[in-house]
Amino acid sequence: MRIVRTFADCRSLVIRSTGLVPTLGFVHEGHLDLMSRCRRENDLVISSLFVNPLQFNDPADFDAYPRKFDRDAGLMEEAGVDVLFAPSLEEMYPTEPVTAVVVKGITEFMEGAHRPGHFEGVATVVTKLLAGIQPDRAYFGKKDAQQLTMVTRMVGDLSMPVEIVPCSTVREADGLALSSRNVRLSDEARRLAVGLSRGLFHAADLVALGERDGAVIEQAVVDQLAGMSPEYVTLADRFSAETIARLDRPAFLAAALEVGGVRLIDNVWLEPDGSSDLGRCLEETSILHWEER
Ligand code: PAF
Repeated sequence: MRIVRTFADCRSLVIRSTGLVPTLGFVHEGHLDLMSRCRRENDLVISSLFVNPLQFNDPADFDAYPRKFDRDAGLMEEAGVDVLFAPSLEEMYPTEPVTAVVVKGITEFMEGAHRPGHFEGVATVVTKLLAGIQPDRAYFGKKDAQQLTMVTRMVGDLSMPVEIVPCSTVREADGLALSSRNVRLSDEARRLAVGLSRGLFHAADLVALGERDGAVIEQAVVDQLAGMSPEYVTLADRFSAETIARLDRPAFLAAALEVGGVRLIDNVWLEPDGSSDLGRCLEETSILHWEER
């Protein structure tokens, strides 16, 4: 695996076809699934590792983000990544940026309402990665459903010649969606946190049995949260990310919950025919929790 630090070096390696897996690092099995799918579908696999300050609305969250370069590079190599693009802050933002990418509508609800500036930071860095590397395909997790909707619409609006490939969520064995934040949960918070995925799975079960009423589907999640108040539980249109009152089109049911000072998000993808994509659960302990990693 080559490690490159500049856009110019990275772009010079690009062949047809090239797939890109953008990451913030602290790689887990969710990223590894994106990388193996990217490996199967492309001749060259590039993964980027950049902790993007623009998308952290809370500076403490940016500071707390785990940075383990050697660990991540080793895992990426094992997953078949050919090129690790790890730009410095100066390479990514050589001067104070005066240009930002703003995606309207989609970014105003749910995560957008709770994390001011977050989506603008993501849209800007993803645009820079796609423009600066020029891959044929880019792989994003369904776990960040609103981000995926935003990136897909942005790429279409800007006629960027890249295919956005959505990949299913990977979960810990009990259902908790993988996130670098899981390692910050205390034992008690970890026990409570599983209510989030349990609630989403319960809602998907109701949908499979015929329920289509948005309020009932959302309430099914709240009912599993043992009295905890979620920041939001929203049944959203997958194309616009707008709240919908009935499951009558492709949708995702998304929720955010703060537990023990750690903010978690999760969702399931729901179809109007009653089918769903809940993601897959690991059978073993996630690499997130391996001390030596
Ligand atoms: O989903 C993420 O990890 C980040 O938002 C991304 C897409 C790598 C942009 O920094």
